[in-house]
Amino acid sequence: MQTLNDAVREAARSSVLCWLATVDAGGQPNVSPKEVWAIADDQHVVVAHIASPISARNIAQHSQVCLSFVDVFVQKGFKLIGNAREVRANDAEFTDWAEPLLAMVGQRFTIQSVLVIQVQSVAAIVAPSYRFYPHDTTEASQVASGMRAYNVQAVKKEKP
Ligand SMILES: Cc1cc2nc3c(=O)[nH]c(=O)nc-3n(C[C@H](O)[C@H](O)[C@H](O)COP(=O)(O)O)c2cc1C
Repeated sequence: MQTLNDAVREAARSSVLCWLATVDAGGQPNVSPKEVWAIADDQHVVVAHIASPISARNIAQHSQVCLSFVDVFVQKGFKLIGNAREVRANDAEFTDWAEPLLAMVGQRFTIQSVLVIQVQSVAAIVAPSYRFYPHDTTEASQVASGMRAYNVQAVKKEKP
């Protein structure tokens, strides 16, 4: 078991979106994006099933999952592997697991169930430039390149 430490939490916060990979009983993989997710404690990640019928069905058939996320500007993130189970809205433990997710969605979406992942391994994901061009690659240079790639411009903050 590996702990979800502060570095993983910070990367999760700045990544916004994660990608959840599941597999069905016949071995067919499925990957889909999730924006309503959180690190619940140092061993668990929770994902809101709002519109994810295949992910939920696959987890019932085969509990092994992989969840990845990267900050697309810094171009670093993590890949988590673990076992998932579905906690439905009428389960006694639903409120506890859903708490950080309900805080994110408010009244906007109904959370049908929470996909609770017990994390077994954590691996860093980094853009190849950090490894193959370490002398001229910094987080600042990757952010600048990411902003160009996504056509994003920095906004100057007004002085109070
Ligand atoms: C940016 C983005 C964020 C999304 N976030 C969520 C989410 O947090 N929870 C969810 O259930 N669906 C979310 N979806 C929708 C699912 O990814 C989509 O319904 C997908 O087809 C579900 O597939 P699945 O049943 O294979 O998981 C999101 C989609 C996008 C494009």
